[in-house]
Amino acid sequence: MNYNNILFENKNGLGIITINRPDKLNALNKETINELSLAFKSAEADKSIKVIILTGSGTKAFVAGADISEFSNFSISQGKELSAEGQKKLFDLIENLKTPVIAAVNGFALGGGLELAMSCHIRVASENAKMGLPEVSLGVIPGYGGTQRLPQLVGKGKAMEMIMTADMITASEALVHGLVNHVVAIEQLLEKCEEIASKIITKSPAAISSAIKAINARFIDGVNGFEVEIAEFGNCFGTDDFKEGTAAFLEKRKANFNGN
Ligand code: COA
Repeated sequence: MNYNNILFENKNGLGIITINRPDKLNALNKETINELSLAFKSAEADKSIKVIILTGSGTKAFVAGADISEFSNFSISQGKELSAEGQKKLFDLIENLKTPVIAAVNGFALGGGLELAMSCHIRVASENAKMGLPEVSLGVIPGYGGTQRLPQLVGKGKAMEMIMTADMITASEALVHGLVNHVVAIEQLLEKCEEIASKIITKSPAAISSAIKAINARFIDGVNGFEVEIAEFGNCFGTDDFKEGTAAFLEKRKANFNGN
C-alpha cells in the first residue's frame, strides 16, 4: 500500500511504521491518522509481523501533537467527533492490537503525540525526547485518551500536574515516573527497540495476544480483569503454541511457535 504521510517496512518479522511529516514535526492530521489506522490493521493481519515499532521521522519529533491547523475553527459537535473518531480509529486500535507495539519516542511527543505513545504497549525514549500534554495552553483538554492513560502510567497526582501546567518533561523525568520504559541515546533508539522486540519474537504470539488482552482488561470499567485472565489462561490450553511450548521444554529444545 502507498501512503502519503507514513513509511512502512517489514524487516524480518518486525513492522516498522514511521510517521513522515518532518516539516510539521510529524503532527497528526486526519490523513495521517487514517493511514496509521490502515497500517496497524494490515500489520496485525500479517502473521509474519511479530512486533511493530512506531516512530517519527527525523531526530526532532516523534509527533508534536494533533494538527492544530485542522481543528482551530471546529464547533462543539465537530470537537466531539474528532476525539471519538480518533480514539476509535487509532488510539484504542493500537492499545488493543494483538501484535505488540513499541513506541520509539525520538524527540517531542506532545499532545496527540504523547497520547499515541501511551497507546503503545511499551515506550522507549531517546535522551533528547520531551513529553507533555500542552492542550490547556490551547484552551482544550487532551482528547485522544490522555486524561485516561496518563494517570494509569504516572499516577493521578503527576498526571494532574502535567495536564494543568502543560509542562514538558524530559526523557529522564519520564523514566522516573514510569511514562517510558527505557531512555537511550538517539543513535541507539531503534537498536534498543529491536533488542526488546527480538526477545518478544521468540515467544508465543498467541500467548502474547492473550497477555495484552488480560492486562488491558484491568483498565476497562465494569470488566473484571481476573476473570479475563482466567478465560485467556484457559484459552491458551487450546493453542498450537501451548502444545509446542510445553513439548519443546520437555524435549529440551527451542520452541518453534506458529502463533495459532
Ligand atoms: N500542529 C500543526 N503544526 C505543527 C504542530 C502541530 N501540533 N507542531 C508543530 N507544527 C509545525 C509548525 O507550525 C511549523 O510549521 P511551519 O514551518 O509551516 O510554520 C513546523 O511544525 C515546525 O514547528 P516550529 O514550531 O517552528 O518548531 P519549534 O522548534 O520552534 O517548536 C514545538 C517545536 C514542538 C515546541 C512547537 O512546534 C509546538 O509547540 N508545537 C505544538 C505542540 C502542541 O501544542 N501540541 C498539542 C496539539 S493538541
